[in-house]
Amino acid sequence: MNDLKRMEKFYNNRVKDEWSVFNCYPFFIDCKQTYVLTKILNNIDLKESTFLDIGAGEGNFILKMISLGISPNNIVAIEYLKNRYDLLHKKLPNIKAINDDFLNIDDEKKYDIITLMAVLTSIIDNEIRYAILEKALSRISENGMLILYDYFDDEEPLLNENYRALSLKKVEAISKKYKLIRYKDVYLRSKYVKGLCKLGLQSLIPFIEFLKIFNDSYHFVVIENEK
Ligand SMILES: C[S@@+](CC[C@H](N)C(=O)[O-])C[C@H]1O[C@@H](n2cnc3c(N)ncnc32)[C@H](O)[C@@H]1O
Repeated sequence: MNDLKRMEKFYNNRVKDEWSVFNCYPFFIDCKQTYVLTKILNNIDLKESTFLDIGAGEGNFILKMISLGISPNNIVAIEYLKNRYDLLHKKLPNIKAINDDFLNIDDEKKYDIITLMAVLTSIIDNEIRYAILEKALSRISENGMLILYDYFDDEEPLLNENYRALSLKKVEAISKKYKLIRYKDVYLRSKYVKGLCKLGLQSLIPFIEFLKIFNDSYHFVVIENEK
């Protein structure tokens, strides 16, 4: 089965990890991501920036970027899976959304902010995911940036049948003409966060995270043109 077919099967049958009183994990990750993104986007005029979200899913990350100041008129979303694209389009009818494989899109337009949020980890095939990375890099505007949020491990182990860790070494090699900044804000592994939330012990998360030994390797990497 090729990667896109596998993904279709996975997302069509997936039970969503929704926020609830007994599951604070989605909320926890959301707060962490917002905190790091605020640092990354600190000096940028978001109202004037053009934004391309590749593998936009159901549009949740786009909603976050709008809440941070990106103008809906300046957004383009690309999502391959029809079901997810339909949900995105329903949620965000006023933004430009394209239902296609990013590798099929010929548009040469450049963007100030490009994101691949957990997209490369969700592709098992190395040839495809690093081709997506290269193509995304070629779409960065002169002062623009590509933001990756992924699980990094240079051995590229399969995390399960639908996720493969991304090699930072390979990302660095592909981006050698660019400046790469790693935001190594770490997160406690999801199973511990979920367990602590269920027990009502979420206030312990920062302390256990501080120990580092139970942390995950998900983090942001920003790639931009050398200035
Ligand atoms: C793990 S989800 C992340 C969704 C979203 N970025 C988020 O953070 O909520 C990965 C998404 O990338 C999409 N995707 C993977 N390969 C793609 C490709 N070649 N072109 C367009 N979308 C793709 C998948 O369909 C899926 O919706």
